[in-house]
Amino acid sequence: MNLPGEASPRTRIAQIVRVDHAGEYGAQRIYQGQLAVLGRGPKAEILRHMQAQEQHHLDTFSRLIATRRVRPTALLPLWHIAGFALGAATAALGERAAMACTVAVEEAIDAHYRAQSAELALAAPGEEEADLRATIEEFRAEELEHRDIGLAHDAENAPGYRALTALIKAGCKVAIAVSERI
Ligand SMILES: [Fe+2]
Ligand SMILES: [Fe+2]
Repeated sequence: MNLPGEASPRTRIAQIVRVDHAGEYGAQRIYQGQLAVLGRGPKAEILRHMQAQEQHHLDTFSRLIATRRVRPTALLPLWHIAGFALGAATAALGERAAMACTVAVEEAIDAHYRAQSAELALAAPGEEEADLRATIEEFRAEELEHRDIGLAHDAENAPGYRALTALIKAGCKVAIAVSERI
């Protein structure tokens, strides 16, 4: 039985697919924004590597949205603009700020995917959602690689690193909360 205000299992799975699709869409846009500014600089290759992985994440969740008949978030046009703007703005602050953006986003996504994976393990312990959980865990590992790339490229020495990453993480949390439902 579901508590009042709690989503049914099927609705909950739809929320998971919806928000992950939204997140990977936004991630893709962040790297597009960063590459618009830094696309000819020394970090272009590593940014393109991360962008290619985000494209794979996005393609996977786009397929899941279609096969599971999940309504995508109505906020995609907002993430289209906000993702690109976040990427371009941090890149304009410099390469280290761009990397700090990646660290912040990926730490937020790691926590998000970790929570989803644990929830799926509890709610669907059998084979039922094993594939979805495996996908989330696979992508979580790559997001952590992105965070490590950010750290290896001097993210922590970006001006205002603490404030910048705290702000971006807070934004990610809001984006996640609204993209599950809207
Ligand atoms: Fe991703
Ligand atoms: Fe990522």
